[in-house]
Amino acid sequence: MTIQTVASRPFLDQKPGTSGLRKQVSVFKQPHYLENFVQSIFDSIGPLSGQTLVLGGDGRYFNRQAIQIILKMAAANGVGRIKVGKSGILSTPAVSCVIRKYNALGGIVLSASHNPGGPNGDFGIKYNISNGGPAPEKITDAIFARTQVIDRYSILSALDVDLDRLGETQLGGMTVEVIDAVADYQALMESLFDFDRIHTLLASGSFRMCMDSMHAVTGPYAHGIFETRLGAGLGTVQNGQPLEDFGGGHPDPNLVYAHDLVERMFGIDPLDFGAASDGDGDRNMILGSRFFVTPSDSLAVLAANATLAPGYKDGIAGIARSMPTSEAPDRVAAKLGIDCYETPTGWKFFGNLMDAGKVTLCGEESFGTGSNHIREKDGLWAVLFWLNILAVKQQSVEQIMRAHWQTYGRNYYSRHDYEGVESDRANTLITQLRGATSSLKGKKFGSREVAYSDDFSYTDPIDGSVSTKQGVRIGFTDGARIVYRLSGTGTQGATLRLYVESYEADVAKHAQDPQDALGDLIAIADEVAKIHALTQMEKPTVIT
Ligand code: G1P
Ligand code: ZN
Repeated sequence: MTIQTVASRPFLDQKPGTSGLRKQVSVFKQPHYLENFVQSIFDSIGPLSGQTLVLGGDGRYFNRQAIQIILKMAAANGVGRIKVGKSGILSTPAVSCVIRKYNALGGIVLSASHNPGGPNGDFGIKYNISNGGPAPEKITDAIFARTQVIDRYSILSALDVDLDRLGETQLGGMTVEVIDAVADYQALMESLFDFDRIHTLLASGSFRMCMDSMHAVTGPYAHGIFETRLGAGLGTVQNGQPLEDFGGGHPDPNLVYAHDLVERMFGIDPLDFGAASDGDGDRNMILGSRFFVTPSDSLAVLAANATLAPGYKDGIAGIARSMPTSEAPDRVAAKLGIDCYETPTGWKFFGNLMDAGKVTLCGEESFGTGSNHIREKDGLWAVLFWLNILAVKQQSVEQIMRAHWQTYGRNYYSRHDYEGVESDRANTLITQLRGATSSLKGKKFGSREVAYSDDFSYTDPIDGSVSTKQGVRIGFTDGARIVYRLSGTGTQGATLRLYVESYEADVAKHAQDPQDALGDLIAIADEVAKIHALTQMEKPTVIT
């Protein structure tokens, strides 16, 4: 086995976005493209000699080939040991769990999360640091800078490693350890939740649930945890076999894409509980019988009931939510007398707060919820947390949610996505909005008056780093908010995200359809940003 040094030239488009480098498979398959990025990671993370890394992906098309390349490059770059998930599979939360459990230097996650897969789909690669969380901007900036000047990479010429057999093999001077993808993660879940109580609920026969893994990475985890360990019947997990193209679906757990689940939960004879997760297992959607829980409300409910789960029995230190997430969790934090932090979009902003012990729970409106047990959002963790609460309270999802609104009031919330907008048009829209923010304060729209308007900027309270231009916000005196931002994870054109929220304290008004309750705000959002005129789209492509 010899180490080859391969001459290469920079690709100028390797800037990591909201969550790593995400591109179409055809882009990643260009000669040297993946290798350049991987070498840039290795060059940016310090001495690798003797260090342990974790490696795994969501099983999408190109996962296996990429893993073989990365293993050989890691060996050539002096890495001591790589723990790789069996068959190249590890969910994003499992990577975070394994990095932390074994004190690894970091890990590489291969995923484009909820983006479609297959030869015509997307692929992605992300580096996570030793706390188990996504690399902060300081590191992703360094990786990007390296990609711009790179002129060679190192790779071992060797045979492929057998990824389907557990155990250790040598690759040059590096040990490759193929690990059970589920075991460490399942043990962590057992340490946090009351598995006995959940078992009693699930095995009772009177509680019917469905977990939709959407042919993505959580299939093996969900079969093992819900069906085998927690006694839910066989067939509880649907679409449980990971497929390279996710069965042609879009592995994003929302009401539009998780249609199989939605049919079972909103049709005749609905089940009691339904949940879904995304491509790499970090997102979740929670449904009750004919009832949808918004991710913002889900975070609020978990925070309000945290002490029911053994792992959080002593209470939570604080909550963090991304800026566009509704303010429902803030109301719980206020009642608990703890802090609620508002961060930019993307999980990487939660890491410092959790490391410093400032927050225990965090979440995003984009179907992401998590806690300081790892440093990623965690789909199955959220599902288990809900099951733990249901098992203790012996109430339905809807009853729990309505009681919550009765106590805290309801934050009506919706996100409208305009996908595939021509980039120039999207940029014009945001630039014009930024220009308009200074003159909106005090302006009246119907019964609502603008209290503030700005382009959100965040100063990290722990390391003082500043992130600017994180989304245009318009806040009203009655607590309603409109937020606009461009997606940082798309791979084609631009995606405009519009987030709208209003607060309703009156229980008698808690049964409205959110689109109706938010109707005037949606109209105001268009009036201010000229969305329809500028995007030339009549309506959003996805509403959640
Ligand atoms: C989206 C979500 C964001 C999430 C990210 C990764 O990013 O909006 O909350 O952290 O995916 O899952 P965006 O495309 O909006 O930049
Ligand atoms: Zn994801």
